[in-house]
Amino acid sequence: MTLTGAEVAQHNSKDSCWVIVHGKAYDVTEFLPEHPGGQKIILKYAGKDATEEFEPIHPPDTLDKYLDPSKHLGPVNMATVAIEEKVETAEDIEKREAVALRPALAEMYNLLDFEAVAKRVMKRTAWAYYSSAADDEITMRENHAAFQRIWFRPKILVDVEKVDFSTTMLGTKVSMPFYVTATALGKLGHPEGEVLLTRASRKHDVIQMIPTLASCSFDEIMDAAEGDQVQWLQLYVNKDRDITRKIVEHAERRGCKGLFITVDAPQLGRREKDMRTKFTDDGADVQSGSTTDNSQGAARAISSFIDPALSWADIPWFQSITKMPILLKGVQRVEDVIKAVEAGVQGVVLSNHGGRQLEFARSAIEVLAETMPVLREMGLEDKIEIYVDGGVRRATDILKALCLGAKGVGIGRPFLYAMSAYGFEGVDRAMALLRDELEMNMRLIGCTSVEELNPSLLDVRSLGAHGNGVPKDVLSAAVYDQLRNPPQRSKL
Ligand SMILES: Cc1cc2nc3c(=O)[nH]c(=O)nc-3n(C[C@H](O)[C@H](O)[C@H](O)COP(=O)(O)O)c2cc1C
Repeated sequence: MTLTGAEVAQHNSKDSCWVIVHGKAYDVTEFLPEHPGGQKIILKYAGKDATEEFEPIHPPDTLDKYLDPSKHLGPVNMATVAIEEKVETAEDIEKREAVALRPALAEMYNLLDFEAVAKRVMKRTAWAYYSSAADDEITMRENHAAFQRIWFRPKILVDVEKVDFSTTMLGTKVSMPFYVTATALGKLGHPEGEVLLTRASRKHDVIQMIPTLASCSFDEIMDAAEGDQVQWLQLYVNKDRDITRKIVEHAERRGCKGLFITVDAPQLGRREKDMRTKFTDDGADVQSGSTTDNSQGAARAISSFIDPALSWADIPWFQSITKMPILLKGVQRVEDVIKAVEAGVQGVVLSNHGGRQLEFARSAIEVLAETMPVLREMGLEDKIEIYVDGGVRRATDILKALCLGAKGVGIGRPFLYAMSAYGFEGVDRAMALLRDELEMNMRLIGCTSVEELNPSLLDVRSLGAHGNGVPKDVLSAAVYDQLRNPPQRSKL
């Protein structure tokens, strides 16, 4: 039986709450208290079509997975659903104009250029989610700044006519030594979401790490891959290990080639920019002073299932349920790298989650510089693959990481910004820019292959100096979005 818009509209309250998503009605009355994003946002759409709000945050299979079939009420005749007149807000107008004024893609010369455009064209809430980091965002800035405290000691008079920067990651041959790291909620930036990154990764022959919290479903992202394209899975471990087991087994069956367990997020960091936009969007009742508590931002809302009890003791269980190589994503000290070797995992990602978790976590590149000499001393450097991510914006950053001993680097926000600003072509251009930069810089440091990259090509003496004598990071400072002070409320 097909429902009419009028029938659905009757169920517009907490006591009986129906919503329409993609042309079908759902009874979410009992689900309201369980919704990780809070009740308020659902109630805003009670009796109405919630598709537009639902889409970027939830993979399309969410309702099938989490809402009892008895609550699936069937198709709605969408012609009978009252279309709400969309009033263009001041923000809509500003963004529309910013899109029209975008520079030509050919005018994008580096990855930070995309960030500047994305900041202008993205919806405020989406920008806040992507660009935010923990607390005062010091670790996020340090991630980028740390690379700028490493200088080169290039070789000269080497025949560099042909340079080859292809390498292997977990046995997969890749054309460039970076991968697209896992970042949640791709559809906040672009309606196509993560599958767009899949296509760009394919074109440039690099690996994509699929996030647990993607906007597209896992299967959609796997289906978007072509031929022998390789993808990895980033895993947030659910308190319910049965769910985790199913995710892992399914990923392995579908051909994922690496399992990256995120270990730096037992609780999500405070990303105040994200929290603040959510707060103002929800329009807390200032007059009565009764502010709501769903001001947690997109990040916290979607991550309440993550198990804070995850520990080293769980690693053998993961090894028992999968043959995929297992890597720990978010390792931040050499002692834990050694433990990871002892635990028999295949690799680690030195990472602080793009500065979104522990504020004053050190940069991955600094942790790498601390780690490799110890591993070499212990004869462990070949027992494990070491990746780094955070703040990589230039090919020189990538080369520095490789010189220090990383197998490859992950890049997060730059591809999100390129995607949000220019879609597929943007990511394509961003990757092409990195390719050009890699080629030139390999030549300029006098190396023809990644095997030749080694610590003697670097001067890392000032890497450990946090703060003093650091050149001002002008480019990134120009686009860095300052944390706003709390909004001034008019006295009533
Ligand atoms: C918007 C956004 C979402 C992210 N989502 C996840 C996630 O779901 N799981 C995860 O392990 N890491 C996540 N990360 C962290 C990235 O995998 C990576 O560690 C970080 O982005 C690297 O820093 P960069 O953005 O400076 O390149 C996210 C990062 C960003 C910016």
